[in-house]
Amino acid sequence: PILTRRNLLKASAVAGAYGVGLGIAGKFSGKAMAAEPQVLKTVKTQASLADSGVTRDVLTYGDAGQPPVVRMRKGEPFAARLINGIDDPTTIHWHGIRLPNKMDGVPFLTQPYVYTGDHFDYAFTPPDAGTFWYHPHCNTLIQMGHGMTGVIVVENPRDPVFDSEVVLNLRDWRLGGDGQFIAQFRPRDAAKSGTYGTVRTANWQQQPQYDAPSGGLVRLRLAITDVTRIYSLRMDGAQATVIAIDGNPVPQRFPLDLLQLGPGQRLELAVRMPDEEGAIVKLEDIRGTDPKVLATLRSVGSSLKRDVRDLAPLEDNPVAKADIGAAQHIPLILSATAEDTATDSICGSLGYSFWAINKVPWPGDTPDPTAPLAELKLGKSYVLDMENVTPHAHPIHLHGMSFTVLSSSTRQVQPFVSDTYLIQPDEKVQLGFVADNPGDWLLHCHIIEHQKTGMTSYMRVA
Ligand code: C2O
Ligand code: CU
Repeated sequence: PILTRRNLLKASAVAGAYGVGLGIAGKFSGKAMAAEPQVLKTVKTQASLADSGVTRDVLTYGDAGQPPVVRMRKGEPFAARLINGIDDPTTIHWHGIRLPNKMDGVPFLTQPYVYTGDHFDYAFTPPDAGTFWYHPHCNTLIQMGHGMTGVIVVENPRDPVFDSEVVLNLRDWRLGGDGQFIAQFRPRDAAKSGTYGTVRTANWQQQPQYDAPSGGLVRLRLAITDVTRIYSLRMDGAQATVIAIDGNPVPQRFPLDLLQLGPGQRLELAVRMPDEEGAIVKLEDIRGTDPKVLATLRSVGSSLKRDVRDLAPLEDNPVAKADIGAAQHIPLILSATAEDTATDSICGSLGYSFWAINKVPWPGDTPDPTAPLAELKLGKSYVLDMENVTPHAHPIHLHGMSFTVLSSSTRQVQPFVSDTYLIQPDEKVQLGFVADNPGDWLLHCHIIEHQKTGMTSYMRVA
């Protein structure tokens, strides 16, 4: 739904009444924080996703429809209680948010399973503003595939003011002709680019339309929460300017021409709506042979005549800069593996090893994780020398710390800050970061079938 400034204020007032990490609470000591946590209860439900019928066995957080957009404020305490109402153990991972290790939501590595009927309390203070997302980290192909992916907005009160805001959760559903789920996993596809969904949605709707003020500036926040699909995004009918990628402001804004984003990535655009009332702006994915309109915006009212150049820059997030001269380099070779031994995992093992990091197909979330890929010294700078020797692209996600993309062998990069890098076939990339967050942090491909068939590992910071 569209959030006007007025609605935003209303939403904040409601949240404030419950003390959900908003308002005055954060100005007092850490203890006076978030008395009432936001409740995120997992439920099994049904939803109208396909034209052919109501889909059963949909999983979500909350009572109905898609998981709520969770709003937090930069630098203010946030608390949520996960209550597990589904027949499967679960956890919540707060993708891209730098938080204490024990709040990271990775079963066995950072916390125990949350079993059916149990709960777990998460509490942390997000240091960075931007667009993030949340999802389970257990049996993820089913839980995420069936719906458990939600968007997080971390607000910064010092952000420039937009005329409206639209938040889009972009994902697919793997449904058969009768609108019911079909197998999420096909081994021969998992060994390539993954098994694709059949019904494409934005906010659990096919091609939803949102109204926005004519001639106004819309802050369009989107998250790719699909388990498989890489998007090539384009905007038709309006000028769209990229202002942030993966929760972090880009060093220099640029017009959205065509941008590839993989599962786990987020994008923030400043969309200047057409002056003409009724004009339609389309967000499209043009990857592959089947270009697709994902969502549309419609100009309403008389023109506000805004200019994107008047928009003040977003404040940088307080991510430490790596000391590249002193940094230790860590090689990370992403490859396919010929081994057909099953990766050993009780947390959603798919029973195959197709992928490897530094030649090891990692078991992923196991009760007894193997040794870390690397042991890092707290406070030291590191550069990941990552190389993709497979013929497929992989969105590689690091938990707990944000990195700066320093250079790529195949393209010019702005030195942008991120938590998920979409590495192309034959690309070599350097990602610099400071190991400033102690704990065990996963590093994995966010194409879930790749993650669960070997392309997972973790690094220890101590
Ligand atoms: Cu979106 Cu391991 O995370
Ligand atoms: Cu991958």
